[in-house]
Amino acid sequence: MAYETLIVEIEDYIALIRLNRPDALNALNSKLLSELAVALGEADKDDSVRCIIITGSEKAFAAGADIKEMSEKTFVDMFGEDFFARESDAIMRTRKPIIAAVSGYALGGGCELAMACDFIIASDTAKFGQPEINLGVVAGIGGTQRLTRFVGKSKSMDMHLTGRFMDAAEAERSGLVSRVVPAKDLLSETKKAAAKIAEKSMLTSLAVKECVNRSYETTLREGILFERRVFHALFATEDQKEGMAAFLEKRQPQFRDR
Ligand code: CAA
Repeated sequence: MAYETLIVEIEDYIALIRLNRPDALNALNSKLLSELAVALGEADKDDSVRCIIITGSEKAFAAGADIKEMSEKTFVDMFGEDFFARESDAIMRTRKPIIAAVSGYALGGGCELAMACDFIIASDTAKFGQPEINLGVVAGIGGTQRLTRFVGKSKSMDMHLTGRFMDAAEAERSGLVSRVVPAKDLLSETKKAAAKIAEKSMLTSLAVKECVNRSYETTLREGILFERRVFHALFATEDQKEGMAAFLEKRQPQFRDR
């Protein structure tokens, strides 16, 4: 499918979704977010995709929700449309692993989009921020909730109240990103991580996502019970038999997603 605001390539079991509004530093407007929801839905259904990467340009992953599109809206517009609710839920509905490859600005909705992915690989030029306070609003796609879970209350408050940006080193130190790589290697390193994921059993990857995400939604006791039940359930799969047999036979496993 052809998109106006995205470039999508599928190669070696990886769907690479590139945000493509260069004139607006990939600001997230309704068109881009609804196209992203479609692209994620397509990738989730496509058997030739085993991992998804969302990236932007070298200068900007995304500089936030589109301020031009929002500036004249009223409360009635925003509430009536439930602005960005449907689109931003799409990423949470995606079952396959999603990596955000972030270079340059990831601000406001851009930071929130990256945080909604399963993990973030950042280039050493990445800058994260929730500067909505400068516009007289708060984050609207989960920033106050997710950033707080990633970096803790003190840093989250600092970021949201001052609107300051966090560089890649601080983001890695604070647990916001999983790794930092030189800008020129961002895509190749992210593709290597995606290829590692793509060679696992898809059933197990889906189960990992459900278990880790559950840790945000429930108590420790319930989360551990959920994990144990999923662990037990995976013994019903051929991939568990194959994975353990391959280990004992000192060979690489051949997973078949069964
Ligand atoms: N929305 C719309 N357009 C944007 C944009 C945004 N969030 N961010 C940048 N642009 C546009 C600029 O208007 C400019 O367009 P023109 O050339 O037509 O004027 C173009 O992108 C390039 O931007 P700059 O000239 O500003 O580039 P710069 O290098 O000088 O600065 C920047 C880069 C620091 C990222 C600056 O653009 C900036 O501060 N952007 C806004 C960041 C922001 O406030 N994001 C939060 C948005 S609100 C939000 O996201 C709410 C939510 O949670 C849902």
